[in-house]
Amino acid sequence: MRRLDALRADAGVLLSLLRGMPRDVPHAQRLQAFYAPQAAHYDAFRERLLQGRQELIASLDLPAQARVVELGGGTGRNLDFFSPEQWQRITQFHLVDLCPALIERAQARAVDTTRIDVVQADATRWQPPRPADCVYFSYALTMIPDWRAAIDNAIALLKPGGLFAVVDFYVSETTPAAGLRRHSALARWFWPRWFGHDGVHPSAAHLPYLRERLPRHTLVEADAAVPYLPKLRVPYYRFVGRKPITD
Ligand SMILES: C[S@@+](CC[C@H](N)C(=O)[O-])C[C@H]1O[C@@H](n2cnc3c(N)ncnc32)[C@H](O)[C@@H]1O
Repeated sequence: MRRLDALRADAGVLLSLLRGMPRDVPHAQRLQAFYAPQAAHYDAFRERLLQGRQELIASLDLPAQARVVELGGGTGRNLDFFSPEQWQRITQFHLVDLCPALIERAQARAVDTTRIDVVQADATRWQPPRPADCVYFSYALTMIPDWRAAIDNAIALLKPGGLFAVVDFYVSETTPAAGLRRHSALARWFWPRWFGHDGVHPSAAHLPYLRERLPRHTLVEADAAVPYLPKLRVPYYRFVGRKPITD
């Protein structure tokens, strides 16, 4: 019975994915139209699709009294990936997202309202009241049309030397920098088209821009299984950098 319920929930999410994201309306409205019908089942489905989030968060070396920001935080699923030791170090957490249906879920999850502040705002512009020690994007950059502005804004809200992290889908450049993975022409063609229907844009331009803006960084390139498509593996990366002291 539980399996049947899970399949029904997946079917609802798959239907939203098949319908895709509406066009010709402002970005915030598109997000709401896309996510509202699937918000209740978002986490269970994305659990299998959005790989590397737990590893990224486990790798965040937070200072004491840390101020942390997630831009494009969705339902707040990532709050659960921080360990008790990391939470001991966090004094303030801002979760920022533009979609009311997902923000509502995040608010229900973020019971510790003294520390966790859930904000409905645009990641390309929002700034915290005080500079942050850590900012990250988890599968959000690929959904933000002006992703360069989002990266610039995230760097601007950090203290010098602060942590900047991203986990997301991508495709490689045709000729990537030395030491980086090169995806096949088919993969570079297929993934942007497959995800583009749902407003997700795996790009070859994100990593070079991140590497240029944050020269001090570590990068892990990987690939993950896709629910219901057993033969396919989608490329994703984990990037953790430090804001230059003089930016
Ligand atoms: C694939 S979801 C990822 C959610 C969450 N980070 C996670 O890992 O489960 C992408 C999120 O980015 C948000 N988003 C897209 N554009 C945004 C923007 N300009 N400002 C803030 N959030 C945005 C969406 O509403 C959505 O919640």
